[in-house]
Amino acid sequence: MQRLCLHGNKPLHGEFNVSGSKNAALPILAATILLPGMTKIRNIPNLLDIITIIRVLRALGLRAEYSLSEPNTVTVWNQQVRHVAPYELVTKMRASFFVIGPILAVKGLAKIPLPGGCAIGSRPVDIHIKGMEGLGAKVHLEHGFVIAEAKKLKGNSILLDFPSVGATESVMMAATLAEGETIIENAAKEPEIVDLANFLIKAGAKIEGAGTEKIRISGVTRLSAVEYSIIPDRIEAGTAIAAAAITRGHVLVKGLKLAHLDAIIKKFQESGVKLNLTDNSVEVLAENGFQAVDIKTMPYPGFPTDMQPQLAAFLTLAKGTSVVSETIFENRFMHMHELKRLGADIKLEGQSAIINGVAKLSGAPVKVSDLRAGAALLVAGLAAEGETLLEDRDHHIGRGYENIIDKFAALGADICRVKPDVQTVN
Ligand code: EPZ
Repeated sequence: MQRLCLHGNKPLHGEFNVSGSKNAALPILAATILLPGMTKIRNIPNLLDIITIIRVLRALGLRAEYSLSEPNTVTVWNQQVRHVAPYELVTKMRASFFVIGPILAVKGLAKIPLPGGCAIGSRPVDIHIKGMEGLGAKVHLEHGFVIAEAKKLKGNSILLDFPSVGATESVMMAATLAEGETIIENAAKEPEIVDLANFLIKAGAKIEGAGTEKIRISGVTRLSAVEYSIIPDRIEAGTAIAAAAITRGHVLVKGLKLAHLDAIIKKFQESGVKLNLTDNSVEVLAENGFQAVDIKTMPYPGFPTDMQPQLAAFLTLAKGTSVVSETIFENRFMHMHELKRLGADIKLEGQSAIINGVAKLSGAPVKVSDLRAGAALLVAGLAAEGETLLEDRDHHIGRGYENIIDKFAALGADICRVKPDVQTVN
């Protein structure tokens, strides 16, 4: 049981260094399946989800480990690839499903457990599967496994029903070794897609248009191992800005790529938070209060769903009424119920939450249902008066935020890990 204890209502001050992007690292590590030899990837955050994908790679027969000599660096030795991914790891982390594209491209056969749903939604993989079929694979479901077979993948024009981040990534990875040209239409445009494409291009792939809705991939016969450093985590950066703003602090958030945070920055500015911007930093000067704003999550470059919970937390103390609409996931309001326990005034109406700003939040025990809900409760707890206890049974926060306790403690937050209860047996 992971418990975080916060005594809030203290303005944060100081510098926050942004780590590498979890959602760039996961597909890039999956893509090492395509690269024979030794690949080295830098700026990888120390996260539970990274350990999970490393364990998936090991289960597939690759050697993968965090480097002991170089911090935040993962080295992968790829001499052989098995085609079956382990059930317990794929169901533990949905992103492991992305390995279907690389395994199919390299082995001609992939057997990947169908990932279950999670707290925020059913998380189907039908768009991934249609993408593999579009490249000529035969795909069927057997005993809870997705089995995809193709002697040789063939380039094709593939229209995604929805700009799915993961499906764009798995199709793009598979297409790098397909015969001929693949065009992915209605592709996701997130910065993590561009980072994956840049990694693959450095390894010899021929990819154009990553970051637009149309990506063109010309298949090649082989790719080669590379060294690469991934982009900073835009969601961690946004979370730090939200924490600085809600506590009316003065924080310099460093090591980010400002261009990746455009929609997030615009929302904080719209609410009246003063921000000094450079290409790789955001200085938050939030001594004054802030106004209510409306949020509607959209595919990139729209407002990111992964920042919706943290902005909802921030808006609980805004002046006025905010409407937060979630259009990407069907069940991403679990944090709203817990925010109400801290004194927030929130009414849910379908896929929208009506948030009436209140003068203060008061600390209470709250439960963490998923990664970004945990981030939202941490942001709210930093502003709440008194003690907030985050019960994070499944270590959700540790899955996505590197050294989060140290980082916020360095800003003056009164935050600590609480030892799990010692169950006394009578
Ligand atoms: C990625 O998940 C991110 N994860 C998520 O971040 C993020 O919330 C999401 O993209 C949207 O931006 C990683 O990159 C590891 P999607 P992904 O496929 O790829 C539906 C976090 O907190 N869909 O873009 O799984 C799906 O149900 C995590 O870091 C299908 O219907 O998201 C959802 O409603 C949470 N069929 C929508 O599309 C499919 O085959 C967007 O999903 C695939 C997706």
